[in-house]
Amino acid sequence: MNRYDRVTAALEPPFAVVDLDAFDANAAELVRRARGKPIRIASKSVRCRSLLERALALPGFAGIMAYTLPEALWLVSQGFRDVLVAYPTVDRSALAVLAADPRAAWEITLLVDSPEHLDLIESTHPTTRIRVCLDIDAGYVALGGRVRAGARRSPVRTPAQAVTLARDIGRRRTLRLVGLMAYEGQIAGVGDNPPGNPLLARAIRVMQARSTRELIRRRGRIVQAVRNLAELEFVNGGGTGSVEKTVRERAVTEVAAGSGLYHPRLFDHYTGFRGTPAALFALPVVRRPGPGVVTVLGGGYHASGPPGPSRLPQPHHPAGLRYDGNEGAGEVQTPLHGPAADRLRIGDRVWFRHAKAGELCEHFDTLHLITGDSLAGQAPTYRGEGKTFL
Ligand SMILES: Cc1ncc(COP(=O)(O)O)c(C=O)c1O
Repeated sequence: MNRYDRVTAALEPPFAVVDLDAFDANAAELVRRARGKPIRIASKSVRCRSLLERALALPGFAGIMAYTLPEALWLVSQGFRDVLVAYPTVDRSALAVLAADPRAAWEITLLVDSPEHLDLIESTHPTTRIRVCLDIDAGYVALGGRVRAGARRSPVRTPAQAVTLARDIGRRRTLRLVGLMAYEGQIAGVGDNPPGNPLLARAIRVMQARSTRELIRRRGRIVQAVRNLAELEFVNGGGTGSVEKTVRERAVTEVAAGSGLYHPRLFDHYTGFRGTPAALFALPVVRRPGPGVVTVLGGGYHASGPPGPSRLPQPHHPAGLRYDGNEGAGEVQTPLHGPAADRLRIGDRVWFRHAKAGELCEHFDTLHLITGDSLAGQAPTYRGEGKTFL
């Protein structure tokens, strides 16, 4: 029986836990890597109000990077401050609420990358000026566009394009440009040390080194050009996988990070840092179909992203369990193979890690909190508070 089995013996699986000691250690590691620049917490990767509050209470964390405007409005109504909605919104109802609420408009910043976004915000006739942040494409492009790494998001890529949009914002009396954001997902979200594939690892490192060099120049020039037109309060970049690299850029004033707090499986293979798995879920063994195989209840918690094995939860404890090739992580039942299966009895638990961070919270109402050898309470997830924003 492992420590988590002992501590949670009274709970009925399926349930999810967050190890607060690991969470705090991961937070401290993010702060160390950020070297004095503030970390804006990516709330999508936490999706639990009290854990957002826990991290924000630590020196080194400041502000929220939210994923929808309804979420941002809710967070502000709950006392959170300085909330950047990091993805464009076309939610007219939420925009109307923002436009009519000066306090929310004071705390919330909307992301824009096109005149259509500006038109939409203006169409709600805000009573106070709405804070906006310009999103810059930080992807890596080579060979005249034939090679591309990074997220497909903003069409704004050059200093000239950024200046054009910044001028457009400047002409609109209801908008105020307060920030720039450029998320280099090809560095922050791609581990540079994939196991068992040295060629791929080398290719990733070469791409990331080139992308870093290109971005230092381009992001620097964009920030300089836009600062001539607007008083920027922040320039946001990076994510869990790139914190120590992103903060080295002078143009960047803050980094974003969230996944690093739970340290899910997709962040296991980076050379620059190590984290401690802090979020796990336990499923009960409900059958023993034969030698070397057990079946647990539920488990089909695939992560978003390109479909494939990397998006599956990882059987974590006991070690050495693997999925059935035909069934994978199942909707209501998941068979698991391996020698460890023969030591499991019906009613025992198997512990898993999710591939990503906050998505786990869409499957559970509650996170049971563990410190040392005891249960320290529980915290509702967003879902547990009836808030399923995405
Ligand atoms: C805009 C933006 N910034 C930062 C991040 C990094 O978040 P995390 O630290 O959870 O990987 C993401 C993740 O997708 C993002 O979309």
